[in-house]
Amino acid sequence: MKIAVIKERRQFEERVSCTPEIVKKFINLGFKVSVQSEAGIASSYFDSDYKSSGAEVAKSEKTLLSDADLIFAIVRPDIKLLKLFKKGSILICQMEAYINSNELKDIAKLGITCFALEQVPRISRAQSMDVLSSQSNLAGYRAVIEASQIYRKAFPMMMTAAGTIPPARVLVMGAGVAGLQAIATAKRMGAIVSATDVRPAAKEQVESLGGKFVAVEDEEFKEAESSGGYAKQMSAAYQKKQAELVSKTISDQDIVITTALIPGKPAPKLISDDMIKSMKPGSVIVDLAAVAGGNCSATKADKVVVKNEINIVGYTNIPSRLAGDASRLYARNIFAFLENIWDAEKSKISISLDDEIVKGTLLTKDGKLL
Ligand code: NAI
Repeated sequence: MKIAVIKERRQFEERVSCTPEIVKKFINLGFKVSVQSEAGIASSYFDSDYKSSGAEVAKSEKTLLSDADLIFAIVRPDIKLLKLFKKGSILICQMEAYINSNELKDIAKLGITCFALEQVPRISRAQSMDVLSSQSNLAGYRAVIEASQIYRKAFPMMMTAAGTIPPARVLVMGAGVAGLQAIATAKRMGAIVSATDVRPAAKEQVESLGGKFVAVEDEEFKEAESSGGYAKQMSAAYQKKQAELVSKTISDQDIVITTALIPGKPAPKLISDDMIKSMKPGSVIVDLAAVAGGNCSATKADKVVVKNEINIVGYTNIPSRLAGDASRLYARNIFAFLENIWDAEKSKISISLDDEIVKGTLLTKDGKLL
């Protein structure tokens, strides 16, 4: 069986879906692996590294794809590229199933079987395959680093002969995977950290990392977590109460990291123009929800804007700004995903809809959109 690893084409995408470390593991399982030339260059994995780990390096996409049985990518390739795939081949990537979903029918018609990694269910058996978690974790860390590069002051309190430097105050909005890593990173850097979320489970997690939990803890808050562990969309009344609390908290923060997302919906707007005006000049907002429209009213996708002397960072692909490690974890996620559908005795892929992970992720098969 032949695996093809494509070079990503999307703007701001520097990751690669398979690293030399994982190529070796696939070769040990009996696969042949072919990597598109320079697929890993932006994340510091070079053609020579792939060759040393046993992969072939293919110059053209046609050579790479024409006889590939399994294709790995970070995000869904465009339809032109998909037309080069062999009928019956299997694509494993983030399919962005809810974006441009009309195209999925065309992909089904091409006879390609697609698995959407972003749909991996949140069960313990699937944790090692969960690309949303692995990438969000790194995004949370990187958000604090991005903020620290723009913020013109130190994070920790420093006692110097010339006097004391006060610690930075960091507010993290949304304490999921990215938010918790942002809290831990800002704490390690010496900041005073507080955090907010609408899920009750987040309170204990924030406190265990040494953060202060700030939230409207009413009846609606107690019911705000869905069975998948995600937040529900909150009522207008709750959002109003939440906005009042955020208003009070935000004016004395130096750095705000927002990560609040609702799956399949636009990101909730948590920071208004008035709240921005109330912040101290030179403060920094990093909006990790920029990809879903942003949590902050002034966020512009993939731009750093300055409004009322507040810096607002709206990068939509933060994991890619840490492409080496983001690729490392993504490739391990793909390997774990493949192991789950690999029948080692028969040396073939076995797709069973009785498996919760397969059922959750399989989008197209045998010409049908599932
Ligand atoms: P996410 O990326 O969907 O959202 C980020 C955070 O924003 C969440 O904590 C959410 O509650 C919060 N949020 C939404 N609306 C908000 C609002 N109006 N104000 C403030 N915060 C708001 O969530 P993520 O990071 O994917 O994690 C959600 C949960 O799933 C977490 O409890 C996480 O630990 C859990 N999880 C479980 C896994 C497993 O069991 N395999 C794997 C990964 C995460």
